[in-house]
Amino acid sequence: MPLVTSKGLLEKALQEGYAIGAFNANNMEMVQAIVETAEEERSPVIVQISQGAINYGGADYFAALVKLAAEKATVPVVLHLDHGMDLAVNVRCLREGFSSLMFDGSKLPFAENIAITRQVVEIAHKVGVPVEGEIGKVPTTKGEAIPYEELRQFFTNPEEAVEFFQKTGVDSLAVSVGSAHKMKVREAILDIERIAAIREAVQIPLVLHGASGVKDDQIPLAIKAGIAKINVATELGKAFTAELQKAFAADPGQVDLRKYTAPARAAVKEAVREKIRLFGSQGKAPDYYKDEGAWSEPEIAREAPE
Ligand code: G3H
Ligand code: ZN
Repeated sequence: MPLVTSKGLLEKALQEGYAIGAFNANNMEMVQAIVETAEEERSPVIVQISQGAINYGGADYFAALVKLAAEKATVPVVLHLDHGMDLAVNVRCLREGFSSLMFDGSKLPFAENIAITRQVVEIAHKVGVPVEGEIGKVPTTKGEAIPYEELRQFFTNPEEAVEFFQKTGVDSLAVSVGSAHKMKVREAILDIERIAAIREAVQIPLVLHGASGVKDDQIPLAIKAGIAKINVATELGKAFTAELQKAFAADPGQVDLRKYTAPARAAVKEAVREKIRLFGSQGKAPDYYKDEGAWSEPEIAREAPE
């Protein structure tokens, strides 16, 4: 099926009490792992490409990869720009056919964040593409947990969130409520009451960044309070690289790189599956996608003959 936007998917998830996983992809294998697992779980899915990934592989390459994966799938697939740091990258991705954008102005003064977010929204809405904004700031760690007291200084203020929403017209809002980016341990505890207060104030789907480091038992509570999109990157990177290292250690002289990347891709699939089930989105892909059916080709073995 063609790409879909994140708008309807997130609003439905919010109403029905589950969240859509937004999984970061950095290469072809990750795009395949994410979309194939969503298909197997009959789950809608967001494949997100960060500005760093765009610098690495190109917006055009990633757009082509994700569009192809979506075409072959019978579940809804969104192509989302994650943490677009300026107007230019948002416009570039719009031109490449991304079906969902994010402007991250969380490092900017409040007024400047509003001004640029609003510009992105005005442009994207002209062609029906929704935009995620960020207010408060989700900090980035070097892998470890940040003490809660330190995290609090970054938290989203519900009143600021209202002003931000009213002045920008964003479709979804990334909030800082206790998580941090790049954590390698699942230890973060969330301020669930704050999520509920922001949700009450702005009435749009809220986005949880830095979900790799959040304790599993926090996730259903966060969803109940108003989180409808959950971003996962570090866990997938951990799964991919751990498997690469294992395969390399077992056979360090190997020159067929697929012997390393195939098990890494399989490990990412299992990490995505665990998250989709935790977020409750399995089985939520509408059946009409299945009935219409994607064009299917005969199974072709992925591994080249020895
Ligand atoms: O935008 C991407 C996510 O917020 C990534 O969070 O580092 O915890 O996987 P993570
Ligand atoms: Zn993030």
